[in-house]
Amino acid sequence: MSNNASLSRQILVTSALPYANGSIHLGHLLEYIQTDIWVRFQKSRGHECHYVCADDAHGTAIMLRAEQEGITAEQLIAKVSEEHQADFARFGVAFDNYHSTHSEENRIHSERIYTALRDTGHISTRDIEQMYDPVKGLFLADRFIKGTCPKCGSEDQYGDNCEVCSATYTPAELINPVSAISGATPEVRTSTHYFFKLPDFEAFLKQWTRSGRVQPQIANKLQEWFESGLNEWDISRDAPYFGFEIPDAPGKYFYVWLDAPIGYLASFQNLCDREGLDFDSYWKADSSAEVYHFIGKDIVYFHALFWPAMLEGAGMRTPTGVNCHGFVTVNGAKMSKSRGTFIKAQTYAEHLNPEYLRYYFAAKLTSRVDDLDLNLEDFAARVNSDLVGKVVNIASRCAGFINKLADGQLSSTCAEPELVARFIHAGDEIAADFEAREFGRAMRKVMELADEANTYIADKTPWVLAKESGREQEVIDICSVGINLFRTLMVYLHPVVPAMAEQARRFLQVDSLAWASRQQVLEGHVIGKFKPLMTRVESDRIESMIEASKEVLEEEKKLTGKAPSNPAEAPRDTPLVDEPIGDEIAFDDFIKVDMRIAEIKKAEHVEGSNKLLKLTLDIGSETRTVFSGIRKVYAPEALEGRLTVMVANLAPRKMRFGVSEGMVLAAGDDDGIYLLSPDSGAKPGQRVT
Ligand code: MSP
Ligand code: ZN
Repeated sequence: MSNNASLSRQILVTSALPYANGSIHLGHLLEYIQTDIWVRFQKSRGHECHYVCADDAHGTAIMLRAEQEGITAEQLIAKVSEEHQADFARFGVAFDNYHSTHSEENRIHSERIYTALRDTGHISTRDIEQMYDPVKGLFLADRFIKGTCPKCGSEDQYGDNCEVCSATYTPAELINPVSAISGATPEVRTSTHYFFKLPDFEAFLKQWTRSGRVQPQIANKLQEWFESGLNEWDISRDAPYFGFEIPDAPGKYFYVWLDAPIGYLASFQNLCDREGLDFDSYWKADSSAEVYHFIGKDIVYFHALFWPAMLEGAGMRTPTGVNCHGFVTVNGAKMSKSRGTFIKAQTYAEHLNPEYLRYYFAAKLTSRVDDLDLNLEDFAARVNSDLVGKVVNIASRCAGFINKLADGQLSSTCAEPELVARFIHAGDEIAADFEAREFGRAMRKVMELADEANTYIADKTPWVLAKESGREQEVIDICSVGINLFRTLMVYLHPVVPAMAEQARRFLQVDSLAWASRQQVLEGHVIGKFKPLMTRVESDRIESMIEASKEVLEEEKKLTGKAPSNPAEAPRDTPLVDEPIGDEIAFDDFIKVDMRIAEIKKAEHVEGSNKLLKLTLDIGSETRTVFSGIRKVYAPEALEGRLTVMVANLAPRKMRFGVSEGMVLAAGDDDGIYLLSPDSGAKPGQRVT
């Protein structure tokens, strides 16, 4: 591999193929943005670089989801593909091709690779026993089976592990197992499965791992896997399955993860056919082209073991590099639907400029596998101080004077050739950082340069000189230097913030911001009118994005704390007071509930709801808004001034009418609802124990 910009490289880049049954969220976007920045950088350097991706469209989950929505799997994947592509476009992720694993190209390549593996003896078959749903007529993956944990007795646990006691087991060990799909009791059935003989490739994979294809953290992980031994990989699933039928095995389908990475080939094939590129020159065994896969840390096994082994077995080249990133957390925690931090791409884009996120991710990305925290306060502060305060500021300070005093024409000779040259030379090191995926380091260097540019302008005080007569040329000279410095910075930033860079390019009236273009200092060049290139992040937009991300739970569920019961199952005339006492809980669990005395300051009707009242509650230290389903029995004015009890540490919940920040306690059944009140003398804010 060469880093020499004068030698053009041939590079094929992929991001992992998102599943076709869910929306793109900020976690996904880390990967697509990281990859897109790297690709844009390679293109800027003049290399031949192709970036392909596709939807991962096969598997049981997609089949069931389509069924649930009452559409065909094909209709579902077409709809999701459109959504995904719209999301990517909004975030400036510019694939050269976006395809689907449910495509003719993928069928052809999957069959070809499978056949090659079979013919060279790397496929075996064996009968396995598996849980089968006799109602649905479907073999059940572990996560589609639920039952009682054999270790601790907790009910409603998944088929392979218990969320309560963390025990792991096989579905056959579950007590009273049921199919999560139909509710039927599963049977054990036998079926023939096809296996890819991964152990055949152990020596090859060990050598491959040591040849610098993966990051050190990943090489260590692979070492652990080698030590615990490689197993044959089950690559078949029984009908009904949404996928490709295995050529010599009627009723057997390729497991989704078999044809998913082959989807990289399929998407590239589709691009080659459209643009007349030579597929084989990239994928033949001795190809000199480079191939990189960008992935998240959860799918390393597939990309660093199965995939290179499959390619090797099929007589093809293996990836030059598998570049793995960590997971996105928001405000220090896993993305959460109830906290509103599970943020979909679309929701983000409705509230904030996608380029803010591109910059923030870039500023925090390294070549390592560490998780990346999106701290929303830091996010706003960093974007405002760096992009708006430092970079855009250079242009906005200089452009006005050039336009006013020189009709937009920069000085014919650069007044600070050394300063400008230093900015240009810095591009070599910054390029090395981009190449190594050390985007954070690159951004720090760019911002140091931006600081220098601002200091230069501040020291020269063109706005003071502009007021003195006869010093116009000095002002033009200083501002022309400023504009040249700004131009170099935009060359370095354009892979990260392409939309802002495009506006800057138009303002600068240059043909391109390609890496090499920075060498040409702008002298006597005419620039355009300056328009603000980026506005500040407003924190109320962040808040409204979080609010909009809070999942709307069913109203009924919220009022009773339970899922709505099936009326057919509920004995009609049994009063609720006879409801059996619930499961025992530990005292430690009980004291987690923070109940407070609350004074109802205000009670109002909620437009559009005949159940809810909106209550404004004083709990001493703060005021809370709570929606409560007591409208039927209480007139708002009768409640104002009254004391009650509220649960104060319930996660806020978004309802159709607003966010409910807790819950007031009431007893009740069909006959009435009775709000709890303390004896007189209790004070708002007192803890209830
Ligand atoms: N369909 C498979 C990939 C097949 S590739 C041949 C898949 N899809 S996915 O939609 O679940 O994830 C797509 C990519 O997004 C993966 O690389 C995954 O690691 C990444 N991410 C998903 N959630 C993420 C975060 N919260 N943070 C960072 N990356 C995350 O896996
Ligand atoms: Zn358990």
